[in-house]
Amino acid sequence: MDRLQKILAQAGIASRRKSEEYIKEGRVKVNGEVVTEMGFQVSKKDEILVDDKPILKENKVYYMLYKPKKVICTNNDDKGRVTASSLVECEERIFPIGRLDYDTTGLLLLTNDGEFANEMAHPRYHIFKTYQLDLKGILTPEHIRQLEKGIMLDGKKTLPAKIKVTNKDFEKKQTTLEIKIQEGRKHQVKKMFLYFDYKVTRLHRSQFGFLTLGSLTPGQSRRLKPFEVKKLRALANGEVLED
Ligand code: URA
Repeated sequence: MDRLQKILAQAGIASRRKSEEYIKEGRVKVNGEVVTEMGFQVSKKDEILVDDKPILKENKVYYMLYKPKKVICTNNDDKGRVTASSLVECEERIFPIGRLDYDTTGLLLLTNDGEFANEMAHPRYHIFKTYQLDLKGILTPEHIRQLEKGIMLDGKKTLPAKIKVTNKDFEKKQTTLEIKIQEGRKHQVKKMFLYFDYKVTRLHRSQFGFLTLGSLTPGQSRRLKPFEVKKLRALANGEVLED
C-alpha cells in the first residue's frame, strides 16, 4: 500500500505536490470514487483515474545511456531526428532526465519514474555533474575564479563550481578542462563560458554524481543497479555526501 499522491507522482502524472493539488481539486478517482483525502492508501490492484483517464502502472526502470552526438533529448521531434529514448532497448516508455544538447555527448539518465526524475532535476541537495570540454581561447585564472564562485546567468547566480584545466594549447589558442556544476540549467556550461566570450567547441558529460560511463561506448546503454538508484536518491535528498 502507498499514499495516493506518491503513486501519482511515480506514474509521472506530476510532482508530488502538484499531485496533491489534483487530489484536493477532486480530479482523482479510486475504484470509481472521487478521493480528496490526503494520504489515502492505495494498492497495485486499485484502479486510479486522473481526469477520468487511467494512470499507467508500469514497472519503474532506470538506465544510463552514452549519448552520441546528433541525438536529441525530447521524445518527439518534428524534424525526425534520432531521440535518446529510441537508443535504449526497453518496453517501458522512458524519457531523459534533464537535457544534453544535440551536439553534446556523454552520460544521460533515462527513466519512466516521474518522481525520481523530479528528484534528480530539482533536488534540495544538488548533485554534481562533471563535464569535459574544449573552448576557444586560453582561460584566465581570474575567469576561473569568477566561474567557480558564481556568475549572474539569466538573472540568477550560478552555484559554486569546480574547474580543473587539463591543457592549454597556445598555438591552437584552445583550453581543455573539466568543470563540475551542481545545476542543470539549459545550455548552462556553454553559457557560463560565453559569459567571458569563450566558445565551447566540444562538450562531454563524463559523470552524474558518482556515476561514470565505465566501459560503455557511444550509443550503448545499461540499466542502473538498484543500489545506484538508491544512492542517487539519497544524494538528491542530502542523506549522503558526495566524494
Ligand atoms: N550545458 C550545456 O551547455 N549543454 C549541455 O548539453 C549540458 C550542459
